[in-house]
Amino acid sequence: MAKYLVQKSEPLVGEVEISGSKNAVLPIMAAAILTDEACELSEVPALRDVDVMCKLLRSLGSEVTEEYKYNRLNITTKQILTEEAPYELVKKMRGSILAMGPLLARTGKARIARPGGCAIGARPIELHLKGFQALGAKIVESHGYVEASADKLIGNNIYFDFPSVGATENVMMAAVLAEGVTILENVAEEPEIVDLANFLNRMGARIKGAGTDTIKIEGVSSLHGAKHSIIPDRIETGTFMIAAAITRGTVLIKNVVPDHVKPIIAKLKESGVLIDITDEGMLVKGDAQPLTSTDIKTLPYPGFPTDMQSQFMAFLATVKGSSNVIETVFENRFMHVGELNRMGANIKTEGNCAIVQGERGLQGAQVISTDLRAGAALVLAGLTAEGTTEISEIYHIERGYEKFIEKFRGLGATIIRVEE
Ligand code: EPZ
Repeated sequence: MAKYLVQKSEPLVGEVEISGSKNAVLPIMAAAILTDEACELSEVPALRDVDVMCKLLRSLGSEVTEEYKYNRLNITTKQILTEEAPYELVKKMRGSILAMGPLLARTGKARIARPGGCAIGARPIELHLKGFQALGAKIVESHGYVEASADKLIGNNIYFDFPSVGATENVMMAAVLAEGVTILENVAEEPEIVDLANFLNRMGARIKGAGTDTIKIEGVSSLHGAKHSIIPDRIETGTFMIAAAITRGTVLIKNVVPDHVKPIIAKLKESGVLIDITDEGMLVKGDAQPLTSTDIKTLPYPGFPTDMQSQFMAFLATVKGSSNVIETVFENRFMHVGELNRMGANIKTEGNCAIVQGERGLQGAQVISTDLRAGAALVLAGLTAEGTTEISEIYHIERGYEKFIEKFRGLGATIIRVEE
């Protein structure tokens, strides 16, 4: 098992280029099996999660060629060999569940190992299954697998109890080939939903309203191949915004969509960070003035993203004053608190609220990356902590950030990767 050794860093200075979005490319790769024609994706991040999705698509019958150095993928699924996503792949990446909707739409059947929980929560999938049932699918669960089947999917009106990102994506992908019109209400509005809808429409789907709380889908009889460029990763963007702020550095972040990170811009500005949007990108300056505390509450988009909660908390641990962090999306997303406190942070949690007393300097320590974003938070904290921070279980980090420590090194950070 590898680990990172992170040294206290001078203020980060320089430019960093954001990669394609992990949470956009995974559903879009799954959507490619809705057609027997070639789909060409560019701006694809070279991530372990993308590798796992390539393996899954190949196991289903897709021909997948990847040119990682150019961040491109070609996916052609002339025929589906099996409608089953095996446990050994699903346990590696819960995003495998996103193959369910497209498989059901293309073949009338999908059998997926039910994803387990993870560090941040139980991660149930009942909203996905309710959506498939509303379209006419029969759901059978046995031996850890969930199977959906339907002779024909029929459009319907579906209200989501919670604006689940995955359920919105999965049911939208099932509905594009259903007979008639489907109206999805109280859906997720994330930019990744819009990117998926844009790709599906390029394939010939007829989707309106993506990015709002209501999506209308007119079913079509078939879809054709398409080319698509994946949007930049807004969470990677936010992570490097925090990197500039927490080290009091000056960083130009390129290949960003400022609209996708409005909550992070707003909250960092409240703390005194200077952010300037230019033609070249987003300039983030953390040394313009003394930085102060602020409060955050995570919410579905366009609210403050839960995937930025741990990174922002690491930043709040280094600024003067008391900050409240409220997590409303996942039930167990404070695993990083104990690790930050091992580094000298002063954070107390009460249910889904954490109170962060900033200002005390952090000290390097041995810590564990419990999930993707918690691991990123520990790297950020390590950049400002006295001495060396040793982070284990970094596979969580490397599955979701492309060239993570290389990008930090490019800004002047000293991070080395060692085998344990
Ligand atoms: C997506 O997960 C992202 N993953 C997550 O990013 C992100 O944190 C999450 O959306 C919220 O923005 C990908 O896109 C691959 P949800 P997803 O369904 O779709 C509950 C990262 O770090 N829920 O919107 O699984 C669920 O338990 C990852 O990149 C149900 O109750 O998220 C959670 O509390 C972490 N029933 C809440 O909704 C359901 O059927 C949000 O989950 C589905 C979800």
